[in-house]
Amino acid sequence: MSFQVTYRKKVEYINQGLSILLEQRPCYPTLLNAIKYSIQAGGKRLRPVLFLSAFELASQVCSQRAPMPGELDQVRPMACAIEMIHTYSLIHDDLPAMDDDDYRRGKPTNHKVFGEATAILAGDGLLNLAYEVMLENLPAVVEKLPDYLRAMSVIAGAAGISGMISGQCADMEIQSNNSCEDRLTYIHAHKTEALITSALKAGVMLRGGSMDMLNAVSGYGKALGLAFQITDDILDLTGDLAQLGKDPGSDKKMGKLTYPAKYGLSESKRMAQRYIEQAIHFLKPFGRNAEFLVSLANSILDRNQ
Ligand code: IPE
Ligand code: IPE
Ligand code: MG
Ligand code: MG
Ligand code: MG
Repeated sequence: MSFQVTYRKKVEYINQGLSILLEQRPCYPTLLNAIKYSIQAGGKRLRPVLFLSAFELASQVCSQRAPMPGELDQVRPMACAIEMIHTYSLIHDDLPAMDDDDYRRGKPTNHKVFGEATAILAGDGLLNLAYEVMLENLPAVVEKLPDYLRAMSVIAGAAGISGMISGQCADMEIQSNNSCEDRLTYIHAHKTEALITSALKAGVMLRGGSMDMLNAVSGYGKALGLAFQITDDILDLTGDLAQLGKDPGSDKKMGKLTYPAKYGLSESKRMAQRYIEQAIHFLKPFGRNAEFLVSLANSILDRNQ
């Protein structure tokens, strides 16, 4: 199966999981509409796809077979929870107090449709729901519990004040391209790479992967996450609303510290390319078992959305 078809199938599987998790959940109607508006608007589902792919890699390496459908169904709620955390971060990132953006995932931003108060609450709701969903789906087999809780802790840490939230805070504070390289790397590593790496690590942990495998996917995630955010910065300059689904030019308008602002477009592209090469290098020990994750890394460089 081609990379694109496999990716699409994973996205469908995640979307189905998200619908199941939201179905019949008691929630004030306005809030549920606002939550569904953003989470069902599409999106690449990169983080849950990485989570599932890392789980598959660990299964291939540990037991020389792909996971059974039942095994995947057991871990899907955690994949969906990661997407909920990501979508909450987007709703809040777009608010007037933050990046003040009008479009997201091809539609007007959440606050443009529901108002700021409901958008804030929809973000809060998704963040809390992520942890509800992970706790509601604790493994029935008690031996699996420690790995599951460790995976949850890795996700919580990456999404929290030592991870994404600090990255977002630094991003808001530093609105000048005179800041040093360390600052730029700090922002990108925290606001974007941390959650990406945590998704990969959690996938490996749930399938009992070795410490070597955890280190390898961490290395892959760190390099991939940086390349992903550099590409996001590049697309803010070169992309268009129709393909990107969000307003280009937003970083420039807000005076953000980005790779193209600091290094220019061509050098930023070269840097992203180098990070992707680094990411792929970490997967060498897994040979053909890592084919999907290698293709995914390569696809980051030519993405247009
Ligand atoms: C956008 O993330 C915010 C960043 C961290 C760059 P994505 O580009 O993954 O957004 P969706 O989920 O596909 O909408
Ligand atoms: C946001 O980075 C990262 C998040 C944690 C949401 P950006 O502000 O560059 O993301 P976009 O460009 O609005 O998607
Ligand atoms: Mg932002
Ligand atoms: Mg933004
Ligand atoms: Mg951006």
